[in-house]
Amino acid sequence: MNTKDVCILGIESSCDETAASVVKNGREVLSNVISSQIAIHTEYGGVVPEIASRKHIENINFVIKKALSDADKTWDDIDAIAVTYGPGLVGALLVGVSEAKALAFALDKPLIGVHHIEGHISANFVENKELEPPFLCLVVSGGHTHLVIVKDYGKYELIGRTRDDAAGEAFDKVARSIGLGYPGGPKVDKLAKEGNPEAIEFPRASVRDSEYDFSFSGLKSAVLNYLNQCEMKNIEVNKADVAASFQKAVVDVLVDHSMKAVENYGFDKIAIAGGVASNSAIREAFSKECAKRNITFYHPSPIFCTDNAVMIASAAYYEYLNGVTHGYDLNAVPNLRLGERI
Ligand code: KG4
Ligand code: ZN
Repeated sequence: MNTKDVCILGIESSCDETAASVVKNGREVLSNVISSQIAIHTEYGGVVPEIASRKHIENINFVIKKALSDADKTWDDIDAIAVTYGPGLVGALLVGVSEAKALAFALDKPLIGVHHIEGHISANFVENKELEPPFLCLVVSGGHTHLVIVKDYGKYELIGRTRDDAAGEAFDKVARSIGLGYPGGPKVDKLAKEGNPEAIEFPRASVRDSEYDFSFSGLKSAVLNYLNQCEMKNIEVNKADVAASFQKAVVDVLVDHSMKAVENYGFDKIAIAGGVASNSAIREAFSKECAKRNITFYHPSPIFCTDNAVMIASAAYYEYLNGVTHGYDLNAVPNLRLGERI
């Protein structure tokens, strides 16, 4: 039994958020600092990797300093340095990884590399103290759509994944096509509240021979075709109806696959994670379907769904307890697979 408190500094820089946080015993948030670059990338309609790396390198020391001072901690109180080392944009990851290695080396503290998606899943531990593996988790982010069995801390089985676009990518592309700008997810979510989800019949794709896999590229094309046809026929597009009908098509598939998996595997709890998990229609649909089946539904607050470093420090805590640390040869791994340890 571990009786000493463990404080971990988490660092996250895999995409367009520079984030640092201090988390006690994996579940108690002492600080959560996020410096978002969204305003800069909005000008370009999406994340520009080189700009992201440059902004991370400008901001990272300030963000870490603030995470320590918000937590009212000094370096002496920190037991380990954790950092996202993949998957993500290589240049962006390298900034966080280099920073974490320099800190671990200079301060002579353990270094723990964390998988970004394992971090997203762990965000559920922070506000749900009673949640323990095993459980099923749907991870929906800008780059991933994964249905995962969390067998134990640090042990995952991927049972379903997208064959093409990630759910967040589909939100972002559809948002762009109806002129909402970047990042599209929250904008579609907001506009959809004013639209009719039954107005347009968009496809709900299933993948043959793989009941838990997803495919969103057909849906994205169907939205683009619908918009083109309206233009050709000179019909005015009701953007709110497009947003609501598209969102409903995504939600239906996510809920359908997740409920099938939870029933087939016999779980009594399911969690959702990743930026898209902050979507209001997804949360509503999961709450309803889980209540019908007597399944407990877990979801992080929106601030812990999108990229943050609390989730990285939380995931690292369980690695720390298991004695998993990395050497000074830790590198960024842009295509790191779930459950893989490099
Ligand atoms: O997890 P995340 O912050 O970064 C990645 O690891 O990719 O996810 C970002 C994605 C973006 O595609 C964004 O549009 C989407 O999450 N997103 C949403 C919402 N908030 C963020 N999608 C739908 N509804 C939302 N409310
Ligand atoms: Zn993420």
